[in-house]
Amino acid sequence: MWRTWRCLGRGLHTCDKWAHAPKEKVDCVVVGAGVVGLAIARAMAMRGREVLVVESGPTFGTGTSSRNSEVIHAGIYYPANSLKADAELHGATFAFNSSVLEGNVSSEGIEMLVCSSEPSTVHDQADENSIILCAKTVINSAGLHATSLARRLRGFPATFVPKSYFARGCYFSLVGLKPPFSHLVYPIPEKGGLGVHVTLDLSGQIRFGPDVEWLDLDSDAIYEHEFDFSVDSKRAEKFYPEIRKYYPALPDGSLKADYSGIRPKLAGPLDPPADFVIQGQRDHGISSLVNLFGIESPGLTASLAIADRVCTMLCEGK
Ligand SMILES: Cc1cc2nc3c(=O)[nH]c(=O)nc-3n(C[C@H](O)[C@H](O)[C@H](O)COP(=O)(O)OP(=O)(O)OC[C@H]3O[C@@H](n4cnc5c(N)ncnc54)[C@H](O)[C@@H]3O)c2cc1C
Ligand SMILES: *[C@@H]1O[C@H](CO)[C@@H](O)[C@H](O)[C@H]1NC(C)=O
Ligand SMILES: *[C@@H]1O[C@H](CO)[C@@H](O)[C@H](O)[C@H]1NC(C)=O
Repeated sequence: MWRTWRCLGRGLHTCDKWAHAPKEKVDCVVVGAGVVGLAIARAMAMRGREVLVVESGPTFGTGTSSRNSEVIHAGIYYPANSLKADAELHGATFAFNSSVLEGNVSSEGIEMLVCSSEPSTVHDQADENSIILCAKTVINSAGLHATSLARRLRGFPATFVPKSYFARGCYFSLVGLKPPFSHLVYPIPEKGGLGVHVTLDLSGQIRFGPDVEWLDLDSDAIYEHEFDFSVDSKRAEKFYPEIRKYYPALPDGSLKADYSGIRPKLAGPLDPPADFVIQGQRDHGISSLVNLFGIESPGLTASLAIADRVCTMLCEGK
């Protein structure tokens, strides 16, 4: 289920990692090219900022943004692609296969060690492709990894990093039957999610989900290992009775394991739900940094509003 991830050692700032990497000055760095990072990059570029988006995946939208109910699989490329095209038009640049390993907050801005995350160059340490980005402004929109990244920013007090919880949501698709629904059905919410509801993708495929599975992992564990998102077909046993509450005719054998996504949460299973945290100078005193924590559902729907909020915070120093 787990496989070791990327080219990082756990220790912070071992000098040799930083020693040989060339430095590059940049205005504004957005870490993460999910829908939220893309929306922020677009909004900042539209305000005339020079934006570099650094993404560890091979392209945009490969994280939680393509693992939710609203936009499924290929569907992500409509909103995400248009956000990327709107961002690029306004002058944002993208660095894919590039991971921010750690950083250093100072009065001039933030220095970040960025290394290649291509599978062929996985190392314990940064390699000859590493670079130090010296940014005036950094927006940490790293989704599941936002809290662990914030903790790897030297000079940023760890007291401002909230505890994260992770709740997986699995989907099952309906096979061999004509779609019995033409609209979405939302059953009564369960703790941690909306309940196992019906989704229809752009090709008319029906899926049920997501359920809520609290993962016994902290943010370091989530960061250091790559998660296997495949769905155990045994979970179907829980789905049948849930779905039959609103679709009693659901035949045995008609559910096929599909995909899953992980919600980054700031509230645990016993806590009341928590709001998104968009953290800027007013919260932590550092003018060059905005952190986005706990951007779970409905982060996709809220992405443009989140981007506006971030820009306002940065422009008005709030
Ligand atoms: C099961 C489920 C159902 C959902 N349903 C809905 C819904 O119905 N409606 C809705 O609005 N929202 C829903 N959501 C929430 C929505 O999907 C997310 O809020 C949204 O996609 C978050 O986008 P993001 O850009 O913050 O994160 P992500 O898409 O995860 O993007 C973060 C990016 O940062 C990159 N990254 C991380 N660390 C680093 C690093 N160190 N260096 C470089 N890059 C890095 C990752 O590779 C990733 O691409 C759901 C989520 C889940 C899991
Ligand atoms: C990123 O890495 C993948 C896998 O190695 C590769 O196929 C892809 O071309 C790379 N993308 C870029 C933009 O370099
Ligand atoms: C981090 O910043 C401090 C203060 O500006 C500086 O002394 C230190 O050398 C920096 N460390 C690295 C690894 O860049």
